[in-house]
Amino acid sequence: NTRIVKINGINPEKELIEEGAKFIRAGKLVAFPTETVYGLGANGLDEAAVEEIFIAKGRPQDNPLILHVSSLEEVKPLVKEISKEAEILMKEFWPGPLTLLFKKSTLVPMIITAGLDTVAIRMPNHPIAIELIKSSGVPIAAPSANTSGKPSPTSAEHVIEDLYGKIHMIMDGGTTGVGLESTVLDLTVETPIILRPGGITLEDLKEILPDVELDAAMIKDDNKLVPKSPGQKYRHYAPKADMFVFVGQVEDIVKAIKERAGQLIEEGKTVGIMATDETEHEYERGVIMSVGSRKNLGTIGQNLFNVIRRFDERKVDIILAEGVESFHIGTAIMNRLKKASGGKIIKV
Ligand code: TXA
Ligand code: MG
Repeated sequence: NTRIVKINGINPEKELIEEGAKFIRAGKLVAFPTETVYGLGANGLDEAAVEEIFIAKGRPQDNPLILHVSSLEEVKPLVKEISKEAEILMKEFWPGPLTLLFKKSTLVPMIITAGLDTVAIRMPNHPIAIELIKSSGVPIAAPSANTSGKPSPTSAEHVIEDLYGKIHMIMDGGTTGVGLESTVLDLTVETPIILRPGGITLEDLKEILPDVELDAAMIKDDNKLVPKSPGQKYRHYAPKADMFVFVGQVEDIVKAIKERAGQLIEEGKTVGIMATDETEHEYERGVIMSVGSRKNLGTIGQNLFNVIRRFDERKVDIILAEGVESFHIGTAIMNRLKKASGGKIIKV
């Protein structure tokens, strides 16, 4: 039995926050919105509660979780030390979609870090998340609130699709803003490295950390590169349909997708076309959905996971998706498209 409550995203009702916090303190699972995607929360210091997260999601045990905090002071007991760089980044980008890796303290259970000696921490920029953490009085461990392998949830409906009946409470605070998971940055190594691109971009980070790098396995089409973050090695964000991503000049992408769609439809396939506001009118055949505007890539980030889920609902056999340029938030979008397609990127 899962309790679903609508909760105000700007001024969350105190009684509802307290109800969620009670569940968290009792070792139960509560899904809640953040500015990136919905999280599946449990008391991050309670090993048994954290184990329930892995069970509910069907998540591989070797994939570590992020601890969510509501203030800078809450970081100290969880880590061995806070470097100068970390301090500057926290001041600049928290609350916000940046997850930082630290050397873990003994307070952090091994199940959180999947046996690694680093712990991932972030402060979400969402009143419901912040109030829930505060009211719980503990760091909240929260992966995205989807079934493992599926696209991350950007609305309560997505969480219900995946986890209804498996968790105690879903806090429905509407759709999320960024729509893609946080940037994961490892500062515990010599050269700071982005393990997962997200809302805080490489370009944002370069202004503060000039030598920061992006893990090459995140964007290159070379499937032999092994990602440094455990979570990134799994097929992920994946639709049921077979997916292909087309990259190149926009006109060439449209032409190639139209051609391929035509062939596939002749073969009797149901074809989904993931288009953009600027191009959707150019397609004639297939299940056509726009994912957002090329002039505002943020809208594509926001809608991407929802559109993938909607294609699954329409039971398409194949999705032909337009790629975007790999800079700013486009890097995170292309990373998710690469994962969702299992690396099937077609250069035109
Ligand atoms: O935006 C987000 O980060 C969302 C919201 C709910 O906060 N959370 C989220 O969690 O995306 P999850 O568990 O779906 O993804 C966490 C990622 C995984 O790729 C995991 O492998 C990586 O962070 N990660 C966590 N701890 C790590 C560590 N110690 N070393 C390397 N990677 C780590
Ligand atoms: Mg996830």
